[in-house]
Amino acid sequence: MPIDVTVSAQVPDEAQVLGVPVFAGRQQPSAAAAELDLNYLAERGFEGKVGEACAMPADDGGTVVALGMGKPDDVDAETFRRAGSAFVRATWKDSSGALSLLEAAGTFDKGAAAQAIVEGALLASYRFTKYKSDGKACRLESLVVVGKGAKVQTGVDRGTRIAAAVALARDLVNEPAGAMTPSQLAEVATEIAEREGLAITVLDEVAIANERLGGLQGVAQGSEQPPRLIELVYEPAGARSTVALVGKGITFDSGGLSLKTADGMETMKTDMGGAAAVLAAMSVLPALNPKVKVIGIIPTTENMPSGTAIKPGDVLKIRNGKTVEVLNTDAEGRLVLADGLSLAVEAGVDAIIDLATLTGACMVALGRTIAGLMGNDDGWIDQVKAGADRASEGVWHLPLPEEYRKKIDSEIADIKNTGGDRYGGALTAGLFLREFVGDVPWAHLDIAGPARSESDDGYTPKGGSGFGVRTLIELLTHYRRPAKARAAARA
Ligand code: BES
Ligand code: MN
Ligand code: ZN
Repeated sequence: MPIDVTVSAQVPDEAQVLGVPVFAGRQQPSAAAAELDLNYLAERGFEGKVGEACAMPADDGGTVVALGMGKPDDVDAETFRRAGSAFVRATWKDSSGALSLLEAAGTFDKGAAAQAIVEGALLASYRFTKYKSDGKACRLESLVVVGKGAKVQTGVDRGTRIAAAVALARDLVNEPAGAMTPSQLAEVATEIAEREGLAITVLDEVAIANERLGGLQGVAQGSEQPPRLIELVYEPAGARSTVALVGKGITFDSGGLSLKTADGMETMKTDMGGAAAVLAAMSVLPALNPKVKVIGIIPTTENMPSGTAIKPGDVLKIRNGKTVEVLNTDAEGRLVLADGLSLAVEAGVDAIIDLATLTGACMVALGRTIAGLMGNDDGWIDQVKAGADRASEGVWHLPLPEEYRKKIDSEIADIKNTGGDRYGGALTAGLFLREFVGDVPWAHLDIAGPARSESDDGYTPKGGSGFGVRTLIELLTHYRRPAKARAAARA
């Protein structure tokens, strides 16, 4: 049951639980909605740190939850997300709640604060209970954000939409690979496109072969499930620039003939996390209405071993004409992305970003929660980094060293799909992708770690995280055409 989120100028009488802000050192903002018993908080060790929550009985028989906001001068969007999230965790079994937090915003924009509160609350309430007989879903039915004005209402609406998009991405990732096949993913994309008003084209296995998408076709040839190439288009009136989002959509990665271990395969339904982020971000664009045309490209297939599978040593020809010697069939993501990136370049876009659960090496480098960010254009990379910072999604810029380019030289084809050894594996994968973007400003997010959460944390429960959705939305809503593309357009 989705939580009904509304705005009200006053704290509604029917709210069972009221969340109020408390700064570090147990300081309440001057215009607090409820006066708290600060000794009660002190006795329970509540200090007012960001993410802390402490519930106490209120005079009217309800409950007040003190929510830590940290230092007043440090309050930002993430403070509000974490307060919203802490509130939902504290009120898991109540049916109605109200959050009176905006008095803690100070100079921080109240609309952005309202959006962040709703994001944190709704994202924390997410659970994938579809296959549970007794799923412990959040019981909250209604949530009131106490505040007034058009900005606050807009913020709440945006927060609700964005949280729904992240939940969609999480659902797609959490769905077992047996259910979320490439053709099913294309079905879901088609429903979403029709509902939200996006144009969509789906290529089936015959069209994929006819269009010479040799990477996608090659990876798919070991599977009983047919591949799909999904293309979504958002085109607002008056758009003067176009961005392509490309998402790796491996619905299950067994490794192919270069078979993974049993342990290594356990979470490989997550290997379409990039595709999920692209589809989910596209799904909210008509509602958020950024002034840029966006093309979403999702090559999707399983990667399976069989008598028809590609073999180590086989050569595939990618859409842009380059040939690839496949030395390890488990390095399949870059093969399908190569076709996706080639299509983006052909579409004449001004900038490209791809998201892919691409390498275990990136997790070795950056851990489970931070994505690797690579690319060929510093201005565009900076825009992606800024978007990720606003979304509080962790990304770290990694290099694409020229001296490593020779690691993907092939004996018999244009390039090979591995770097020869394990070292710098995220970078050789990035260098491989760079071969397919030409001069177009391009950024690559390796989300192998953060696409899935291994612990129940703040507003990210265990399982598919929806990582990247909010970064993409921030990127597109603040988009500026990269300088390189501007220069090319003048020439
Ligand atoms: N999907 C995996 C990467 C991955 C690993 C994502 C663990 C999430 C968790 C990818 O297709 C893969 O298998 N990459 C190989 C590349 C290697 C064979 C060059 C890897 O990282 O081991
Ligand atoms: Mn693989
Ligand atoms: Zn993979």
